[in-house]
Amino acid sequence: MTPGCADRAHLNNAGAALMTQGILETTVAHLELESRIGGYEAARTANDRFEAVYTSTAALIGASPGEIAIVDNATAAWHLAFESVPLKDGDVILTAEAEYATNYIMYLKTARERGVEIRVIPSDETGQLDVAALKDAVDERTGLISVSHVPTNGGLINPAAEIGAVARDAGVPFLLDACQSVGQLAVDVADIGCDFMTATGRKFLRAPRGTGFLYVRSEMLRDLEPPLIDMHGADWVEPDRYELRPTARRYETWEFNHAAVLGLGAAVDEALGWGIADIEDRVIRLGYLLRNRLVEAGFETYDIGHRLCAIVTTRVPGVEAPEVMDRLFEQGINVSVTPPSSTLIDARRRDLPDLIRLSPHYYNTEDELDGAVDALTTLRP
Ligand SMILES: Cc1ncc(COP(=O)(O)O)c(C=O)c1O
Repeated sequence: MTPGCADRAHLNNAGAALMTQGILETTVAHLELESRIGGYEAARTANDRFEAVYTSTAALIGASPGEIAIVDNATAAWHLAFESVPLKDGDVILTAEAEYATNYIMYLKTARERGVEIRVIPSDETGQLDVAALKDAVDERTGLISVSHVPTNGGLINPAAEIGAVARDAGVPFLLDACQSVGQLAVDVADIGCDFMTATGRKFLRAPRGTGFLYVRSEMLRDLEPPLIDMHGADWVEPDRYELRPTARRYETWEFNHAAVLGLGAAVDEALGWGIADIEDRVIRLGYLLRNRLVEAGFETYDIGHRLCAIVTTRVPGVEAPEVMDRLFEQGINVSVTPPSSTLIDARRRDLPDLIRLSPHYYNTEDELDGAVDALTTLRP
């Protein structure tokens, strides 16, 4: 049961999905326990359930529990991974056109501070990263391949497994930003062959806000030092020496939002319960259905790629996108706005304006999609 479905058509799952009653209760129950018996004491009583969050999260993405670090959001996960790759002067980062702003800002910072070069691999004729061009671009200077699986601004699914195969062949680390794909698509780190993968809880996973996780392939853990280490990530074993934890938990810090993490665990268990392959089938079908209905109603859609996911972008000509969002909200329909600055290179290349982003999840109905298209139609000047 999803309480939020009673009053609203929530088509902003790429922003933050609605929690189910079960996820909500798990989260609130732990907060209440903390208030009754104390935060440390509540944590002790829930210890087995915290461990289970790692087991479930690992199962969701085909990893082992020791390869998972639970952090506050996808950005934190991404930074921790990115900054532990020892990029140096002259190294090249290879990325995609639809790269997320936050990631690209870090490439620019690293380029300025460490003399690293950024190379954007062009898209193929469908709009996804051109794998042949990536293969040609990889050479002895390549220090990292870093790509968003699904960008924030549309239905594109970049070919993660093909990118992973190129990275493996070349022996180059591969960081996959799976923030918009985990929870809506089947994402398996062994199939993809990534070294790092980052995800958030609140989007398609339906977890509470302020949760996310990082996957680090176990072989990478031998050599990598996180940029931020505390007494949870390492043991202070001698006055002049510390030892990193053997698992990906070296990337975590001691303090975290225990209630939210248990909520994340409940969300992952629910996704596993539905079956991620079934979720993927349904969200992709709803995405295509919505695009078709928008086009039938005379709207343009802006999603590129070979196979498209449940993120759908459109606009109402003559009405600013933030105003469209506000007017739909008043009618009980949640959508969001994706500005050009969130994916600047792709937006400039395609001359994109602010777009309305509609992102259904498996719990949305076809009637809700029709209602959104009708509401957009009435807004047309
Ligand atoms: C592709 C992509 N990566 C990363 C992020 C950042 O996620 P978070 O806000 O959980 O840090 C987003 C957020 O929208 C995103 O769309």
